[in-house]
Amino acid sequence: MRVFTGIQPSGDLHIGNYFGTIKQMVEAQKNSETFAFIANYHAMTSVNDGKRLGELTMQCATDFLALGIDPNKSTFWVQSDVKEVLELYWVLSSFTPMGFLERAHSYKDKTARGQATNHSLFSYPVLMAADMLLFGAEVVPVGKDQIQHVEIARDIATKFNNQYGDILIIPEFRVQEEVQTVPGIDGQKMSKSYGNIVNIFGEEKKQMKTIKKIVTENVAMEEPKEFENCNVYNMAKLFLEGDNLIALQNRYKKGGEGHGHFKIYLGEIMWEYFKEFREKREYYEKNQDEVREILKMGANKAREVAQPIIEKVRSVTGISY
Ligand code: ADP
Ligand code: TRP
Repeated sequence: MRVFTGIQPSGDLHIGNYFGTIKQMVEAQKNSETFAFIANYHAMTSVNDGKRLGELTMQCATDFLALGIDPNKSTFWVQSDVKEVLELYWVLSSFTPMGFLERAHSYKDKTARGQATNHSLFSYPVLMAADMLLFGAEVVPVGKDQIQHVEIARDIATKFNNQYGDILIIPEFRVQEEVQTVPGIDGQKMSKSYGNIVNIFGEEKKQMKTIKKIVTENVAMEEPKEFENCNVYNMAKLFLEGDNLIALQNRYKKGGEGHGHFKIYLGEIMWEYFKEFREKREYYEKNQDEVREILKMGANKAREVAQPIIEKVRSVTGISY
């Protein structure tokens, strides 16, 4: 089974990205064929400082390797290093009714939040479809917000196949039920673009400062507290299991502690959880040439997979003549 995902290098990676996608990819490496790439063309829809995009791409690659993407097990590359994706994007555009894109939630949300509209933001799902279809993706682990994009890719691929035969593999999304949407410090979906993130590789004091800003209910210290809808609990539960999780629930139910105590606890378990990853990150941070080498090797592997697919597409569509 080919498990496939991409992530935009548009800011610091946060715990929503980790639990929504990256962790699933790392686990999938054990028993599946895994493909992970850095969607730098997609990031152009929000980053328009060239120097910054280049830096963020390397930062994202370094973070991915630190978090456990293993270049010997996964094909790991930067989107723009396999340019065939842009060719497929154009071909697929002719199989994309405007209505598919007009209905896209992500586009509607971003424009509703005041992001200036442009064509790349509008056609974002077509490029995303090209990503998946060029590499024969079968399963795509994503957060809940990306489900519709995978559905659009399925619809585009089906239209193409109806016209030209069974050329493209129809991908399926996979959402980790228990972490459908990780809340941000304001309780809304955690997102780089909403300024409400807890990042994975922050500096310890800064991390704690961010955690202290998590919005909580105002309940007196001695009163019992609800954990189900508490933003601190909903983050903490990502890092805990079994007895440790029950113990935290009991602390909420018992009263006598304020949300400030739970925030400190969250900061501590989070810091501990990412400890090993931080050490690995320091290594790759010091060895950026090795990271570039890994990406180059990954692009070569990815291109080999893309080649027969794009050739078939060129052939059936009459692009090669
Ligand atoms: P952001 O919204 O911060 O820009 P991306 O759109 O780059 O994040 O998302 C990268 C991956 O991480 C996607 O699969 C997305 O669904 C997942 N993801 C992002 N935010 C969350 C979240 N809050 N909870 C769960 N998964 C998330
Ligand atoms: N749009 C995805 C996101 O913001 C990133 C992405 C680009 C992607 N192409 C993809 C994810 C292909 C999965 C498959 O998270």
